[in-house]
Amino acid sequence: MVVAVDGTSGSGKSSTCRGVATRLGLRYLDTGAMFRAMTWWMLEHGVEVHDADAVAARCDEPVIESGTDPAAPTITVDGVDVAAAIRTDAVTGSVSPVSTVPAVRARLLRLQREIIAADVEPAGIVVEGRDIGSVVVPDAPVKLYLTADASARASRRAAEQGAADLAATERLLLSRDAIDSGRATAPLVMADGAVHLDTTGHTLDEVIELVVGMVDRVGT
Ligand code: DC
Repeated sequence: MVVAVDGTSGSGKSSTCRGVATRLGLRYLDTGAMFRAMTWWMLEHGVEVHDADAVAARCDEPVIESGTDPAAPTITVDGVDVAAAIRTDAVTGSVSPVSTVPAVRARLLRLQREIIAADVEPAGIVVEGRDIGSVVVPDAPVKLYLTADASARASRRAAEQGAADLAATERLLLSRDAIDSGRATAPLVMADGAVHLDTTGHTLDEVIELVVGMVDRVGT
């Protein structure tokens, strides 16, 4: 079983995916964390993140490892735990340009497919990102596309991060959406066969319940 979950920033993807994976005893992969880890490494090594050639030249170097336990997902780069470091404003502000570089996407696509196909228990996995249903696992039996109103997304993000400036948080989300949707390679799109869920006005538990029901109908 692969559950492919795409959608805009702050649409509730991470909480939904972790909740669904926990409920169903599946693994969980946050591909956004992998793009953030790549971005963190570029910043650490002084690579100009807006220079696509410079990013492409070095994107095979970082060793990125993702733990897939939904109760405690982990991410390391060259053996360093970067779970907190990849959520800083510096990384958030640079991750979209790094994610537009085709060589970065090709490298992380290989890593993502290795993790998804790994010969481990449980085999099933919930994968979240921007291009999971369209590019990474186009034949996933369950595909979802999560969205929410920009103001609801900004409020959730601000609450998570303790940010005070709602308007600035919303501007940042919208600018990331624009870059993620507008890039040439693997843009954020609703994949063929995906079910669109607008989470505005729904509690997390309601959304998890809905998705668990969909997976149960397909059969784990
Ligand atoms: O889900 P997130 O906000 O942590 O993702 C961070 C960035 O990574 C997002 O702005 C775009 C990029 N990303 C991507 O291009 N493709 C994915 N599958 C996941 C994330």
